[in-house]
Amino acid sequence: MRIDRCVCHNVFFSALADTARRNECESLEQLMSCASFGQGCGYCHAYVEQMLETGETVFTELLPRRQPWKRS
Ligand code: FES
Repeated sequence: MRIDRCVCHNVFFSALADTARRNECESLEQLMSCASFGQGCGYCHAYVEQMLETGETVFTELLPRRQPWKRS
């Protein structure tokens, strides 16, 4: 299985990685304030967090679901 995007918003992790670099986003929450993704089911959150840590933009295994994102 290839996991490479936020399905709810059809945004590729590679595009999010570019946005993170341009805007110096270091956390999921910072990136969510700069790009439209992650506000649907939330399943992409764990992948985006790993992307921010490692630079990976394509995943082949399921990651445990992150705690639900809450807008403050
Ligand atoms: S896959 Fe990103 S919010 Fe659903």
